[in-house]
Formats: sequence, structure tokens, C-alpha cells
Amino acid sequence: MRNFGVLAVLFLVFSCLNDKNTPLAPATVVVPTVPSVPSTPTVNCSPDTVYFQQSVLPLITSNCAMSGCHNAISKKEGVILTDYTNIMREVKVSSPASSDLYKCLFANSEDLMPPAPAAEFTIAQKSLVLKWIQQGAKNNSCSYSATCDTVNVTYSASVMPVLKTYCVSCHSAVSPSASIDLSTYAKVKVYATSGQLMGSITHTAGYKPMPSSTSKLGTCEINQIKVWVTKGMLNN
Ligand code: HEC
Repeated sequence: MRNFGVLAVLFLVFSCLNDKNTPLAPATVVVPTVPSVPSTPTVNCSPDTVYFQQSVLPLITSNCAMSGCHNAISKKEGVILTDYTNIMREVKVSSPASSDLYKCLFANSEDLMPPAPAAEFTIAQKSLVLKWIQQGAKNNSCSYSATCDTVNVTYSASVMPVLKTYCVSCHSAVSPSASIDLSTYAKVKVYATSGQLMGSITHTAGYKPMPSSTSKLGTCEINQIKVWVTKGMLNN
């Protein structure tokens, strides 16, 4: 918007100078260089970079930060893994492979994380954690899409993948947190209808903030879920 302001001022200057029909010598016009501010997020994810916000945080919160484990209340062994600051306490940037966050993924028997019966991290997930630490364990973020599509919103393509990544590890059928199961369409619709789904993900007062008080879904995801709710919560 600032760009438009500058352009408008330039335009006015031009118009005034042109009042007497004096032709302007282009060389005398100084156009200030204004840094361009993109109006939509740009696609800036590099395939060689591991992004904390997009890859590491969802992996850790959904496998480690559930109630009874490493959330702010349970904090098993004093370890909280809900947000960047706390996760960094388990990270050694100077010696990535000796970070507790990484070592515990390989430990023997009862020290292995996540503990049985939860599945061990896959080789790909373990390397992702290590690579992120090797790259400096930054609180970095990128965006995958240039625009946020809030028109073609469907349960299967827009809502379910988000819930699966950020919510289902705690809210699944086996032992759902707060007895809230978000693993099927029918159950999700119940909490969408009650207002609890939108209330919790928008961190609205009166609802428990989800996925946690320290992490929030992206604006795009929140908007897409909102559109899905307002359009009748279809199973599409
Ligand atoms: C780390 C585990 C965990 C994750 C991840 C998680 N939740 Fe929860 N959720 C809980 C717990 C525990 C409660 C109960 C909180 C309480 O009563 O203090 C809860 C409560 C809720 C409630 C009830 C809120 C209310 O005030 O009525 C909703 C709805 C909910 N979660 C939805 C979600 C959604 C949607 C996501 C993903 C964006 C999510 N949760 C991610 C553990 C989790």
C-alpha cells in the first residue's frame, strides 16, 4: 500500500509540473526505491531446508506433547515439547547428534521416545530432526502456496489433513484427550456444530486453545476450516 502512496505523490508531482506543458526530462526524475511488499505470501520453501514451523513442530507436538507426556502440565522428566523455546532446551546446536531431542529417538528400552506402544520414529523422521539441528535449529518457516484457497474447500482435501497433522495424535479413537475424537468425519462434525472446533483453533476465550496455548494453526488453515463450517460441514 505504501507503494501506491509513493506512486500517487509522484503522479501529483508530475501533474503539477506538467500544468505549464513543460515536457519533463526523464533523467531529472528521481524514483525512490521502495522495497516491494508482497500482498500474498510467496512460495519460498526450499527443498534443502528443514522448516521448524512446517515440519519439526507438528512432528514433535503430535508425537510427544500430548497430555500425560511432554505438554506444559504433564512435563514428564521436566521436559516440555510444545513450542520452540522449550524444544530448544533439548537441542545442542554445537553437537547436533548429541542433542537429547535426537538421542532419545534411538535409546534402549524404556528411554526410547516415543515410548511403546507408540511407534518409533521412522528413519526419515529421525533424519529430519537431525538435519534441522544441523542447519542451526532455527525457528524458521516458509509457505507452500502463493495464495490461500478459501473457495475450493473440502473436508477431505482441506480439513482432514490439517486435523490429522495437528490434532489426531491426541484426539484419536484409542484414548482421546478430553474424550474428543477427531479421527472421523462424523465426530469432527459434532465438535464443528457445537462451536468447540472453531473456538479452540481460534483461541477464543472460553475454549481450550488448540493445538496448544503456545501454538496455533496457520491463518490459512483456520480460514479454510471456517469456510468448511460455514458452508455446512459437508463430507466432501
Ligand atoms: C498434545 C495433545 C493435543 C493436541 C495436539 C490437540 N489437543 Fe485438543 N485437547 C487436548 C486436551 C488435553 C484437551 C482438554 C483440555 C482441558 O480440558 O484442559 C483438549 C480439548 C480440546 C477441545 C475441547 C475444547 C473446549 O474448550 O471445548 C477441542 C474442540 C479440541 N481439543 C480440538 C483440538 C483440535 C482441533 C486440535 C488440532 C488443531 C487439537 N485439539 C490438538 C489435547 C490435544
